Amino acid sequence: MLSIVVLISGGGSNLRALLDATSDDDYPARIVAVGSDTDADGLAHAEAFGVPSFTVVPTSFASRADWGDELLQQVQQWSPDLVVCAGFMRILPPRFVEALSPQLINTHPALLPLFPGAHAVRDALAAGARETGVTVHIVDEGVDTGPTLVQRVVPVLPGDTEHVLQERIKTVERDLLVQTVRNIATGTIDLDTIHHSNRSTTTP
Ligand code: GRF
Repeated sequence: MLSIVVLISGGGSNLRALLDATSDDDYPARIVAVGSDTDADGLAHAEAFGVPSFTVVPTSFASRADWGDELLQQVQQWSPDLVVCAGFMRILPPRFVEALSPQLINTHPALLPLFPGAHAVRDALAAGARETGVTVHIVDEGVDTGPTLVQRVVPVLPGDTEHVLQERIKTVERDLLVQTVRNIATGTIDLDTIHHSNRSTTTP
């Protein structure tokens, strides 16, 4: 059984989808804790499922590195096999990434490397993209630059607003995240192998 810590910043619908999935005895993963950088609405989902949560607010620390160290300590307390960033809206400091990657993944609402960053849906619309989508990837030191595990395409439809497109993406995203975590748990996706093969193709 794969143990997971999920990190969130917002409403936590992706977290909720994972929590729902883990209620099925046949699902091969369990969420042991949920962390946040803020008093996120989504923490209510953790509470509803009796899953412990913690909040580490950056403004309580002298530096981003100190914040990251505390966040890391809180995460490691649960000895998770995997850490899932599901709408966690902060860039993770290098020491945090080094300690956990490649067992550290993120879901991003665009087809990376297109539209990285915090406004992926808005940026895709502004660029006039006819399609966008979801990427689940390993987190590395960059912003949405780590090796891709899986992607799914979502069409951009005439008249789409940012909200409408975002909701269409999130419906696909929740399903993809649940499936990807399952595939990691069963070994169908091997994070170490993907991480190492990516290193060997990008290192001179
Ligand atoms: C997701 O689309 C995620 O990819 C993006 O923010 C959204 C979070 O949604 N970074 P939720 O909090 O899981 O509902």
